[in-house]
Amino acid sequence: MVKFTVENLAGKQEEIELPTDMNLNLMEALKASDYDIQATCGGMALCATCHVAIDNHEEVIGEPQDAEMDMLDTLPDADFSSRLACQIPIDDKLEGLLIHLKTV
Ligand code: FES
Repeated sequence: MVKFTVENLAGKQEEIELPTDMNLNLMEALKASDYDIQATCGGMALCATCHVAIDNHEEVIGEPQDAEMDMLDTLPDADFSSRLACQIPIDDKLEGLLIHLKTV
């Protein structure tokens, strides 16, 4: 199991605990937890409707791959903390992290 905190656009925080053995990514986990993530591309790093922000993400969960970086580069509101939730596997690296939703 892994436990992390999600903060929505209104600043409300909720702790989520999930199993790490279900081969889920963070976008799928957020949708399963009733967050209204559009994920219109289905997790292909093509729509950016799963945009999240995670402080120090490169140190904690590793650098984004090229497809993720390319999509993030198209977002006017992306910054150093931006990631695509669909490209982040649910695993132990997420333990204790605060994940900010950047889209509804
Ligand atoms: S679901 Fe489309 S980029 Fe993540």
